[in-house]
Amino acid sequence: MNVLGIETSCDETSAAIVSDGVTIRSSIVASQSDLHAVYGGVVPEVASRKHVEQMIPVICEALSEAQMTYADIDALAVTNRPGLLGALLVGVSAAKALAYSLDRPIVGVHHLEGHIYSAFLTAPEIIHELPLLALIVSGGHTQIMRMTDHGAYQLLGRTRDDAAGEAFDKGARLLGLPYPGGPNLARLALAGDPGKVAFPRAMLGDSLDFSFSGLKTSLRTFTMRDNGATPAADIAASYEAAIVYVLTEKLRRAARSTGIRTVAVTGGVAANRSLAAALTEMSNEEGLRLVAPVPELCTDNAAMIAAAGFYRLQSGADSSLDFDTFATESLGGDLPASSS
Ligand code: KG4
Ligand code: ZN
Repeated sequence: MNVLGIETSCDETSAAIVSDGVTIRSSIVASQSDLHAVYGGVVPEVASRKHVEQMIPVICEALSEAQMTYADIDALAVTNRPGLLGALLVGVSAAKALAYSLDRPIVGVHHLEGHIYSAFLTAPEIIHELPLLALIVSGGHTQIMRMTDHGAYQLLGRTRDDAAGEAFDKGARLLGLPYPGGPNLARLALAGDPGKVAFPRAMLGDSLDFSFSGLKTSLRTFTMRDNGATPAADIAASYEAAIVYVLTEKLRRAARSTGIRTVAVTGGVAANRSLAAALTEMSNEEGLRLVAPVPELCTDNAAMIAAAGFYRLQSGADSSLDFDTFATESLGGDLPASSS
């Protein structure tokens, strides 16, 4: 079954075709980051308008890369929650119009569920090794999920304030680095000493929750007092190390307390090399199977949405046009999503 996935929840216009939930036939991501860089962050109205411009060309490119026509598409999957409402509506409208005109089934997919499925695109065999622990680290969310079956998620811990990606982005801004902050801070950190500055690492007792707002404040205070004395690379490396430490130790704690042996890391921050290295080391120490998708599958993309949509359709999810679009909705619990 060929599923056309569509993702427009933030500032990437993406379309992808995935066969049987595991084989990526094409994956097109048109980034808008240059457009938002001048504002230092994503401007929702600008994002929506750009999605309108890019949506159809991106879908056409996905078809042409897969050497397919609309007739080859068996079903559609589209991110319908959570995200910037105007941005989501562009993808949902396009997907519904196609589903209606082609007379194909369509499912709305939760964006975070999509991120989890990037792990199945990376290592399809883990589908048979559930339960799975997923550490989702993106610009708007930071949470640890237990997945016991397709569509069955339990929220084990989440950020109480900033998301990990937000901590990277705000830290980058404090260091005067251009948007997108996360990758730029990570690049600067490569040349720095992570042991130079002792930034706080909020462990919050035995909890699996996260908190990064104190870290951000600590960076602001440090840079004001330091007044340029410490090399920026050392500050960036130390700041990154504090985020990486907390994420890694919380996942270790979750694995120990649940006894789950398969762990996955996904979301934009999973593209961070220091995090990947720390998680690999921790997984080796704990005897865990770690699935870490390639960076293109960690950041927002429609292939993960198509994969999640395939399994939702297989499990008999409603495939009519009758679904809405939501700016916020948590996955696997009634705790609110982190602020973004
Ligand atoms: O999952 P994603 O593409 O979009 C959201 O759903 O939010 O994640 C974007 C986030 C941004 O905060 C970005 O700065 C961060 O992921 N990010 C990184 C890296 N690449 C992307 N953070 C740290 N190191 C990276 N290499
Ligand atoms: Zn995302």
